[in-house]
Amino acid sequence: MGSKNKLKRFKENETFANVIQPTREEVTSNFPYKGKWNTFFKNDNPIVLELGCGKGEYTIALAEKNPDKNFIGIDIKGARFWRGAKTALENNMNNVAFIRTQIELVDYIFAKNEVSEIWITFPDPQIKYKRTKHRMTNTEFLKKYHGILNSEGTVNLKTDSEFMHGYTLGLLHGEGHEVLHANHDVYKNVYSPKEVTGTQTFYEKQYLEVGKPITYIKFKLNY
Ligand SMILES: C[S@@+](CC[C@H](N)C(=O)[O-])C[C@H]1O[C@@H](n2cnc3c(N)ncnc32)[C@H](O)[C@@H]1O
Repeated sequence: MGSKNKLKRFKENETFANVIQPTREEVTSNFPYKGKWNTFFKNDNPIVLELGCGKGEYTIALAEKNPDKNFIGIDIKGARFWRGAKTALENNMNNVAFIRTQIELVDYIFAKNEVSEIWITFPDPQIKYKRTKHRMTNTEFLKKYHGILNSEGTVNLKTDSEFMHGYTLGLLHGEGHEVLHANHDVYKNVYSPKEVTGTQTFYEKQYLEVGKPITYIKFKLNY
């Protein structure tokens, strides 16, 4: 995408009622919506997150199918989620929001029990945090997710990375978490949930074109 187009999207994002772009400082010093997301959505419906949402395909697809839940996409790249935010506005979807921020700050943005489900869709192999590289399913991040999920809360990981899939499964078993579903080729497995095979993200389509298997894990954290 050219820089002119990006600038146009950044400007539009500022006018979108469903986009929040806080500074790091705003997030880390008493973020106003923490524990109060019901005031943003004006209802008490369950909240589902998509972390590293890119264009927000899952956020939009799940929000369309589940009008009784609220969906929030989080990504640091505003020009990407502009697509999802615009689609939500064009379709009058009141159960969608996007936050431009760092995934590692989720525990500043949501209170314990405030989130009912997390989707991690095609994460980068590693993300930078505290000057070191982290997998989005390492112990430190799993603890952050546990810190915002409710007692029934689940996490979904969809990835093309066999390494990420195996690494996460090993960690979940080792730490005694509950693996609810694990599948190393979702399109070849008849037991794959519809929400997993029914939506393809931008990155996923590229992996599918070159014949890469897509893996999936659904799990519940026990700490
Ligand atoms: C490989 S892309 C996948 C995007 C989308 N989920 C998809 O499947 O098309 C990874 C996304 O994670 C975002 N990302 C990476 N590190 C991040 C971080 N620390 N905080 C927030 N977003 C991050 C990137 O901006 C990018 O959009």
